[in-house]
Amino acid sequence: MTSTSRLQARGLVRRFGATTALAGVDVDLGDGELLAVMGPSGSGKSTLLHVLAGILPPDAGTVTLQGREVGRLDEKQRSLLRRRSYGFVFQFGQLLDELPAVENVALPAMLQGTSRKDAVDVAGQWLAALGLAGKEGRRPGELSGGEAQRVAVARALITGPAVVFADEPTGALDQQTGREVMDVLTRTTRAAGASLVLVTHDEQVAAWCDRRIDMRDGRVVTDAPARTVGTDAASPAVGSDGRGPGGVEGPDPDLVELAASRPDAR
Ligand SMILES: Nc1ncnc2c1ncn2[C@@H]1O[C@H](COP(=O)(O)OP(=O)(O)O)[C@@H](O)[C@H]1O
Ligand SMILES: [Mg+2]
Repeated sequence: MTSTSRLQARGLVRRFGATTALAGVDVDLGDGELLAVMGPSGSGKSTLLHVLAGILPPDAGTVTLQGREVGRLDEKQRSLLRRRSYGFVFQFGQLLDELPAVENVALPAMLQGTSRKDAVDVAGQWLAALGLAGKEGRRPGELSGGEAQRVAVARALITGPAVVFADEPTGALDQQTGREVMDVLTRTTRAAGASLVLVTHDEQVAAWCDRRIDMRDGRVVTDAPARTVGTDAASPAVGSDGRGPGGVEGPDPDLVELAASRPDAR
């Protein structure tokens, strides 16, 4: 996998005072690969995600995106890289409360130079593809938690990122709503051809990914194909194509087409 890794980390170490949050972590993320990151609270999952995404510098080790070592970039270049190449879905906080849903989604595209009109147009298509048609004008506070997280998914994907990072994005939702959001997130990310690093506690959600790693005390203790790990992995709720719970349809052709038409690729 080494030569084809989209994102590669080697020997990552990160300390906070006396705490070693990452104690030497290697990760490979392939093109279009969905990686679940699991492990108990405090095991270093969020720190790993932040270091991989270039938000937090490691004390030692390297992160390489598509052959470029991120640690060699200055802060301005790193911030540009995050904007151009990455999408983020966090538990909360990534949506701006004062902006309607469609503008929240359009914003990253506008920051990349897409005109407001085009960005809003494509943002509306993304919202429709994620089941939010008619709710474009609502502010985040006027949406349910699950709807708000769908908006966050659209916002993360509108720029056509190489990698999407999601840190327990459904931690604040009930299990059923959380799984629906995760289903949308994983299917949409696949349709968009992005790779995904997904921190989750849900065994079933992890089984929808391609690979999973398990962390303990800042180390990766298991790195394996997702469906060979965990008792829940062969759950009948997961279709044989790995596309999520029964009753949910495969990727919408319109969504695939939309995902392929990056608003900034002109
Ligand atoms: N900003 C920080 N300052 C001090 N300690 C931190 C900070 N971030 C994380 N840690 C510590 O690093 C360890 C790993 O944390 P974290 O990566 O958040 O774990 P997880 O996401 O798996 O719960 C924990 O012991 C945590 O307390
Ligand atoms: Mg965490």
